[in-house]
Amino acid sequence: MSKAIQAVRGMNDLLPDAVERWQRIEASARDVLHAYGYREIRLPILEKSELFARSIGSETDIVEKEMYSFEDRSGENLTLRPEGTAGCVRAGIENGFLHNQIQRLWYAGPMFRHERPQKGRYRQFHQIGVEAFGIESPDLDAELIMMCARLWQALGLDGLTLQLNSLGTLESRAVYRRELLRYLETQRARLDEDSLRRLEKNPLRILDSKNPDMQKVIAAAPSLYDHLDDASRGHFAHLGDYLRQAGIAFSVNPRLVRGLDYYTRTVFEWTTERLGAQSTVCAGGRYDGLVEQLGGKTAPAAGFAIGMERLAELLAPQSDSRQAVRPHGFLILLGEEAEKRGLQLAERLRDAGLHIECNCGGGGLKVQLKRADRSGARHALLLGEDEVRNASITIKDLRDGVQRSIAQGELIDLLLKETPRGATP
Ligand code: HAM
Repeated sequence: MSKAIQAVRGMNDLLPDAVERWQRIEASARDVLHAYGYREIRLPILEKSELFARSIGSETDIVEKEMYSFEDRSGENLTLRPEGTAGCVRAGIENGFLHNQIQRLWYAGPMFRHERPQKGRYRQFHQIGVEAFGIESPDLDAELIMMCARLWQALGLDGLTLQLNSLGTLESRAVYRRELLRYLETQRARLDEDSLRRLEKNPLRILDSKNPDMQKVIAAAPSLYDHLDDASRGHFAHLGDYLRQAGIAFSVNPRLVRGLDYYTRTVFEWTTERLGAQSTVCAGGRYDGLVEQLGGKTAPAAGFAIGMERLAELLAPQSDSRQAVRPHGFLILLGEEAEKRGLQLAERLRDAGLHIECNCGGGGLKVQLKRADRSGARHALLLGEDEVRNASITIKDLRDGVQRSIAQGELIDLLLKETPRGATP
């Protein structure tokens, strides 16, 4: 036997049990997003590499180390999208739906980052992302956060905590960057290898270091908050007011800087203690400069993305994993004549809105009953020689084993009565 081929490291198969859990999350997310007027957009998975360098930032970990980039057959440099914001802005500029307009959009799909795989961190992962354009005021930031809170509630999730920070404007951040650099230069001997590397290119990221040895240096660093411009400070204060009014608890984390360069003013993360090291379930913020930076006319914007793998991990698997697709009946076919008519009978039942799994591939009664049990169906529907002759069907309730014979003409009504349309069988 030749060696079986395995999946690419860090890229997971989603098996049906998991898919059903994901579908429940996706359905809740869709309902919540639509309730706030957000509309779905579908974007390419491949984009020109330059798009990400110009938006996420050429000196970020994502662009420097994690992108799946390659030259295609026409020599164009392309990248599997590591996130969705850049593509959404690109699409908005290209299709002309950003300038002087309010747009509320969402998307879902796979993203790719060549990170070191571990629990909660994968090379292909999935996001539900939200981007809103054309609103500069902090009521939008509040709406985004309230929408997340409503989704957690809809999914029955608690224990997620919200951290906020403001990164100010690009100008105020440049002033802070200089101040921070001055401080970090005095601490050079205490910086670890990663921080030394970041010192020149992206010193703000040093504040995000998880290395315990670095925490003292970080704690004594000048605070970004102290360098905020007045307008950003006001924006942040208003956001706090809105959240307090909405009863959403948050803490301000002045060290929250995010790994993508496009943010301005508000940034936020929802984290949990239940997922170990990869604890951020949802993250986002405002990016008022990005549309212009990518060649569009200035448009304020803000958004967030939820990590699907992490969110799904938080929602315990339902005890009955087949619940979502449990058929009303499993059709058992015994004998040649029954087999001939079985597929047609199943079609008639489905025409009436019933979910029917039909035995295929023959087998004796015992084997077919086992299949019926495994299907999760409420009833086994037996069609044998006698039933074909009498136009009847034997119906066995698989929960209590009670069996009765009825006319085929009564079957639809009976199944619909016992498990009405729309209800879980
Ligand atoms: P991000 O913080 O890079 O932001 O990713 C958002 C979320 O995606 C993370 O909080 C995490 O749950 C999930 N995630 C990221 N990388 C991985 C990975 N390797 N494996 C599993 N899950 C992962 C963004 O992507 C921004 N585009 C969010 C945004 C939208 N900001 C404004 N609009």
